[in-house]
Amino acid sequence: MKAVKIGVLGLGTVGGGVVNVLKRNVKEISRRAGREIIVTRASARDLSRDRICDIDGIELTTDSFEIINDSEVDIVLELIGGVGLAKELVLQAIEKGKHVVTANKALIALHGNEIFAKASEKGVMVLFESAVAGGIPIVKAIREGLSGNQIEWLAGIINGTGNFILTEMRDKGRDFSDVLAEAQALGYAEADPTFDVEGIDAGHKLAILASLAFGIPLQFEKVFTEGITQITRADVEYAEELGYRIKHLGIARKTEKGIELRVHPTLIPERRLIANVDGVMNAVLVQGDAVGSTLYYGAGAGAEPTASAVISDVVDIVRVLTGDPEHRVPHLAFQEDALSDIPVLASEQFQTAYYLRLTAEDKSGVLAEVTKILADHNISIEALIQKEPLEGKKIVPVIMLTQTTLEKEMNAAIIEIEALPTITGLISRIRLETLG
Ligand code: HSE
Repeated sequence: MKAVKIGVLGLGTVGGGVVNVLKRNVKEISRRAGREIIVTRASARDLSRDRICDIDGIELTTDSFEIINDSEVDIVLELIGGVGLAKELVLQAIEKGKHVVTANKALIALHGNEIFAKASEKGVMVLFESAVAGGIPIVKAIREGLSGNQIEWLAGIINGTGNFILTEMRDKGRDFSDVLAEAQALGYAEADPTFDVEGIDAGHKLAILASLAFGIPLQFEKVFTEGITQITRADVEYAEELGYRIKHLGIARKTEKGIELRVHPTLIPERRLIANVDGVMNAVLVQGDAVGSTLYYGAGAGAEPTASAVISDVVDIVRVLTGDPEHRVPHLAFQEDALSDIPVLASEQFQTAYYLRLTAEDKSGVLAEVTKILADHNISIEALIQKEPLEGKKIVPVIMLTQTTLEKEMNAAIIEIEALPTITGLISRIRLETLG
């Protein structure tokens, strides 16, 4: 049978990794796919640059549109990133009847609804396994492996840079900015690293996972995001004292009222496997009503782990190239006319437990005032520790864990507690999930 021809847009870290793995494993991959798969064309901004991949036999160009317009190319791999040019290229490739594989989480999270509608109209596939959690086949696991389940919730460490920062701060007492610079040098961080540390990148990935899990349209604009920049070493240590680890989690949970979509630093009991996922590694915990709890772990970034996921999409496309378009696996796991309008909840409707750290005057009655405010808002305290007075001062750090409560009540209680004359500065609040 005729070989399937691939055009690669972008020969950076991911594009280079894809070319290398495809060449190295060509026999194995072709045996799996049932057809030979060859990269015939590739585009790069600067053709004179040294490459991590062997470009022998690949026709290079600086103009990605040339590849889109090449009638010989069957599948286009969009590996350039960003949402401007990448969107235009993907839409034009679809228009030309080409199948597309993309590693671009922002593109799918922000424009996926439009892209998939166009792909369905043209009868082509747009696959994006590598857009979430790099080499972990989490898209396929949810879309196919768990298709017999009602997904109840999922929680993931889906940004390697953020996880690396939190791990190094905990294990080595290193500074935030120093660790971030290392993640950038290692090529893990986004072009704009605030995407990593403020939860935007994880938010893109969470929006995609939630659509696959719950059959809702992509709604990145409704994802609540809170970054890790406010986490101090003291919080990391107090959490450990209480038996928890702090992780930057993306959580999607279906409740009776709607769906919670949130990315924020989270206390997790240290006995949970996911609490022990360290460094740049990613992990996603998925709770299905039939299967129970399942955990997927692996490299969330890097040239070859990401290439592994990109190539799995290529193999899927090659397998169904001769199939009936009507019966292909739907882009967002559910049939397009069966997507649900179940609402995504506003953050005030979230239900979660909390870690609170406040600084109080060291005198009688202060804690009573604080606990009264919490009680007035129906917030129950799970644990409380009061540390020694800070050196030379008459103020003490107080750390509390609460039971699950409505975020709206917690917001109101925090405002009232911060207004007490006996409380100094702002309260540090980190959400806590037992993930049981
Ligand atoms: N900046 C991302 C991360 C890269 O650190 O996880 C992979 O999406």
